[in-house]
Amino acid sequence: MVTPLKVVAVNGSVHQPSRTRVLVEALLGALEERLVLDTRVVDLSEIARPLGGALSREELPAEIEAQLADIESADLLIAAAPVYRGSFPGHFKHLFDLVGMNALVDTPVLLAATGGSERHALVLEHQLRPLFGFLQALTLPIGVYASTADFDGYQVGNGPLQERIRLAADRAAPLFASHARQLLRVA
Ligand SMILES: Cc1cc2nc3c(=O)[nH]c(=O)nc-3n(C[C@H](O)[C@H](O)[C@H](O)COP(=O)(O)O)c2cc1C
Repeated sequence: MVTPLKVVAVNGSVHQPSRTRVLVEALLGALEERLVLDTRVVDLSEIARPLGGALSREELPAEIEAQLADIESADLLIAAAPVYRGSFPGHFKHLFDLVGMNALVDTPVLLAATGGSERHALVLEHQLRPLFGFLQALTLPIGVYASTADFDGYQVGNGPLQERIRLAADRAAPLFASHARQLLRVA
Protein backbone atom coordinates (compact mmCIF):
# COMPACT_ATOMS: atom_id res chain seq x y z
CA MET A 1 0.00 0.00 0.00
CA VAL A 2 1.56 3.30 -1.09
CA THR A 3 1.24 6.27 1.27
CA PRO A 4 -0.19 9.24 -0.67
CA LEU A 5 2.06 12.24 -1.20
CA LYS A 6 0.44 15.32 0.30
CA VAL A 7 0.41 17.91 -2.47
CA VAL A 8 -0.89 21.37 -1.67
CA ALA A 9 -1.36 23.76 -4.57
CA VAL A 10 -1.78 27.50 -4.06
CA ASN A 11 -3.58 29.36 -6.82
CA GLY A 12 -2.61 33.00 -6.41
CA SER A 13 -5.31 34.36 -8.71
CA VAL A 14 -8.03 36.39 -7.06
CA HIS A 15 -10.36 35.87 -10.03
CA GLN A 16 -12.69 33.15 -11.26
CA PRO A 17 -12.53 31.63 -13.78
CA SER A 18 -8.77 31.43 -13.56
CA ARG A 19 -6.20 30.23 -16.08
CA THR A 20 -3.76 29.78 -13.21
CA ARG A 21 -6.27 27.38 -11.66
CA VAL A 22 -6.46 25.52 -14.99
CA LEU A 23 -2.67 25.23 -14.99
CA VAL A 24 -2.70 24.00 -11.38
CA GLU A 25 -5.27 21.32 -12.21
CA ALA A 26 -3.25 20.22 -15.25
CA LEU A 27 -0.08 19.92 -13.13
CA LEU A 28 -1.95 17.95 -10.48
CA GLY A 29 -3.37 15.69 -13.19
CA ALA A 30 0.08 15.04 -14.66
CA LEU A 31 1.53 14.28 -11.21
CA GLU A 32 -1.45 12.05 -10.41
CA GLU A 33 -0.60 9.88 -13.43
CA ARG A 34 2.82 9.20 -11.91
CA LEU A 35 2.31 9.34 -8.13
CA VAL A 36 -0.29 8.46 -5.51
CA LEU A 37 -1.46 11.83 -4.23
CA ASP A 38 -3.55 13.43 -1.54
CA THR A 39 -4.25 16.85 -3.06
CA ARG A 40 -5.62 20.13 -1.72
CA VAL A 41 -5.94 23.45 -3.51
CA VAL A 42 -5.76 26.76 -1.67
CA ASP A 43 -7.50 29.23 -3.99
CA LEU A 44 -6.92 32.92 -3.32
CA SER A 45 -10.14 33.81 -5.11
CA GLU A 46 -12.03 32.14 -2.25
CA ILE A 47 -10.09 33.67 0.65
CA ALA A 48 -8.48 36.91 -0.56
CA ARG A 49 -10.84 39.30 1.24
CA PRO A 50 -10.70 37.77 4.75
CA LEU A 51 -7.02 36.97 4.24
CA GLY A 52 -6.26 40.57 3.31
CA GLY A 53 -8.02 41.83 6.43
CA ALA A 54 -5.86 39.73 8.76
CA LEU A 55 -2.65 41.50 9.76
CA SER A 56 -1.32 38.57 11.78
CA ARG A 57 -1.80 34.82 11.97
CA GLU A 58 -3.91 35.23 15.12
CA GLU A 59 -6.46 37.31 13.20
CA LEU A 60 -7.07 34.64 10.55
CA PRO A 61 -10.45 32.91 10.35
CA ALA A 62 -10.20 29.23 11.34
CA GLU A 63 -10.68 27.92 7.79
CA ILE A 64 -7.78 29.98 6.45
CA GLU A 65 -5.61 28.98 9.42
CA ALA A 66 -6.35 25.35 8.44
CA GLN A 67 -5.26 26.08 4.87
CA LEU A 68 -2.02 27.65 6.11
CA ALA A 69 -1.44 24.52 8.20
CA ASP A 70 -1.94 22.45 5.03
CA ILE A 71 0.64 24.54 3.19
CA GLU A 72 3.08 24.13 6.07
CA SER A 73 2.65 20.34 6.16
CA ALA A 74 2.80 19.70 2.41
CA ASP A 75 5.19 17.08 1.05
CA LEU A 76 5.12 19.00 -2.21
CA LEU A 77 3.87 22.53 -2.68
CA ILE A 78 2.73 23.88 -6.04
CA ALA A 79 3.05 27.67 -5.92
CA ALA A 80 1.15 29.14 -8.85
CA ALA A 81 0.40 32.80 -9.47
CA PRO A 82 -0.73 35.09 -12.25
CA VAL A 83 1.64 37.92 -13.13
CA TYR A 84 0.38 41.24 -11.80
CA ARG A 85 2.52 44.25 -12.73
CA GLY A 86 5.53 42.04 -13.39
CA SER A 87 5.32 40.09 -10.13
CA PHE A 88 2.96 37.90 -8.11
CA PRO A 89 -0.23 39.43 -6.68
CA GLY A 90 -0.05 41.18 -3.31
CA HIS A 91 -2.51 38.73 -1.77
CA PHE A 92 -0.25 35.83 -2.75
CA LYS A 93 2.67 37.49 -0.93
CA HIS A 94 0.48 38.25 2.07
CA LEU A 95 -0.45 34.55 2.33
CA PHE A 96 3.22 33.57 2.41
CA ASP A 97 4.00 36.40 4.84
CA LEU A 98 1.73 34.57 7.28
CA VAL A 99 3.36 31.15 6.70
CA GLY A 100 5.80 30.31 9.51
CA MET A 101 9.36 31.53 8.90
CA ASN A 102 10.79 28.01 9.01
CA ALA A 103 7.73 26.03 7.99
CA LEU A 104 8.82 25.46 4.38
CA VAL A 105 12.49 24.70 5.02
CA ASP A 106 13.41 21.81 2.69
CA THR A 107 9.88 21.57 1.25
CA PRO A 108 9.96 20.85 -2.50
CA VAL A 109 8.12 23.58 -4.41
CA LEU A 110 6.99 23.39 -8.03
CA LEU A 111 6.68 26.92 -9.40
CA ALA A 112 4.04 27.92 -11.94
CA ALA A 113 2.76 31.21 -13.32
CA THR A 114 0.46 32.60 -15.97
CA GLY A 115 0.59 35.95 -17.69
CA GLY A 116 -1.01 37.83 -20.51
CA SER A 117 2.27 37.91 -22.38
CA GLU A 118 5.30 35.68 -23.00
CA ARG A 119 7.48 38.62 -22.02
CA HIS A 120 7.00 37.99 -18.31
CA ALA A 121 7.96 34.30 -18.32
CA LEU A 122 10.99 35.04 -16.12
CA VAL A 123 8.63 35.90 -13.26
CA LEU A 124 9.33 32.31 -12.24
CA GLU A 125 13.03 33.00 -11.85
CA HIS A 126 13.07 36.60 -10.72
CA GLN A 127 10.03 36.81 -8.45
CA LEU A 128 8.76 33.40 -7.35
CA ARG A 129 12.06 31.55 -6.93
CA PRO A 130 13.65 34.22 -4.66
CA LEU A 131 10.57 34.27 -2.42
CA PHE A 132 10.77 30.53 -1.84
CA GLY A 133 14.55 30.74 -1.63
CA PHE A 134 14.12 33.14 1.27
CA LEU A 135 11.86 30.57 2.93
CA GLN A 136 14.62 27.95 2.39
CA ALA A 137 12.27 25.79 0.35
CA LEU A 138 13.63 23.50 -2.36
CA THR A 139 12.30 24.98 -5.58
CA LEU A 140 12.32 22.39 -8.36
CA PRO A 141 14.48 23.33 -11.37
CA ILE A 142 11.63 23.06 -13.88
CA GLY A 143 8.70 25.43 -13.38
CA VAL A 144 5.87 26.10 -15.82
CA TYR A 145 4.92 29.47 -17.27
CA ALA A 146 1.90 29.85 -19.55
CA SER A 147 0.66 32.90 -21.40
CA THR A 148 -2.92 33.50 -22.50
CA ALA A 149 -2.00 32.22 -25.98
CA ASP A 150 -1.17 28.79 -24.49
CA PHE A 151 -4.81 28.34 -23.47
CA ASP A 152 -7.88 27.60 -25.50
CA GLY A 153 -10.23 29.74 -23.44
CA TYR A 154 -10.02 28.16 -19.99
CA GLN A 155 -8.47 24.88 -21.14
CA VAL A 156 -4.86 23.98 -21.79
CA GLY A 157 -4.38 24.39 -25.53
CA ASN A 158 -2.90 21.80 -27.86
CA GLY A 159 0.45 23.59 -28.17
CA PRO A 160 3.74 23.35 -26.25
CA LEU A 161 2.21 24.00 -22.81
CA GLN A 162 1.14 20.36 -22.60
CA GLU A 163 4.74 19.31 -23.17
CA ARG A 164 6.00 21.74 -20.49
CA ILE A 165 3.51 20.32 -17.99
CA ARG A 166 4.59 16.77 -18.85
CA LEU A 167 8.27 17.70 -18.48
CA ALA A 168 7.70 19.30 -15.07
CA ALA A 169 5.86 16.18 -13.86
CA ASP A 170 8.47 13.84 -15.35
CA ARG A 171 11.23 15.70 -13.54
CA ALA A 172 9.35 15.99 -10.25
CA ALA A 173 8.07 12.41 -9.96
CA PRO A 174 11.42 10.61 -9.40
CA LEU A 175 11.98 12.77 -6.29
CA PHE A 176 9.03 11.00 -4.69
CA ALA A 177 9.79 7.43 -5.77
CA SER A 178 8.28 5.88 -2.64
CA HIS A 179 4.90 7.35 -3.71
CA ALA A 180 5.13 6.07 -7.29
CA ARG A 181 1.96 4.74 -8.80
CA GLN A 182 2.21 0.98 -9.31
CA LEU A 183 1.29 0.29 -12.90
CA LEU A 184 -0.64 -2.91 -13.50
CA ARG A 185 1.37 -5.33 -15.59
CA VAL A 186 -0.55 -6.92 -18.40
CA ALA A 187 1.03 -10.38 -18.89
C1 LIG B 1 -3.84 43.67 -12.09
C2 LIG B 1 -3.29 42.85 -13.23
C3 LIG B 1 -1.99 43.04 -13.64
C4 LIG B 1 -1.45 42.26 -14.67
N1 LIG B 1 -0.14 42.44 -15.02
C5 LIG B 1 0.41 41.64 -15.96
C6 LIG B 1 1.79 41.75 -16.28
O1 LIG B 1 2.53 42.55 -15.73
N2 LIG B 1 2.31 40.91 -17.22
C7 LIG B 1 1.54 39.98 -17.89
O2 LIG B 1 2.06 39.22 -18.73
N3 LIG B 1 0.21 39.85 -17.59
C8 LIG B 1 -0.36 40.65 -16.64
N4 LIG B 1 -1.69 40.52 -16.32
C9 LIG B 1 -2.47 39.46 -17.00
C10 LIG B 1 -2.60 38.21 -16.13
O3 LIG B 1 -1.35 37.83 -15.55
C11 LIG B 1 -3.08 37.02 -16.95
O4 LIG B 1 -4.30 37.33 -17.59
C12 LIG B 1 -3.23 35.80 -16.05
O5 LIG B 1 -3.27 34.62 -16.85
C13 LIG B 1 -4.49 35.87 -15.20
O6 LIG B 1 -4.57 34.70 -14.45
P1 LIG B 1 -5.97 34.17 -13.90
O7 LIG B 1 -6.83 33.84 -15.11
O8 LIG B 1 -5.59 32.93 -13.14
O9 LIG B 1 -6.57 35.23 -13.03
C14 LIG B 1 -2.26 41.29 -15.31
C15 LIG B 1 -3.59 41.12 -14.91
C16 LIG B 1 -4.11 41.89 -13.89
C17 LIG B 1 -5.55 41.67 -13.46
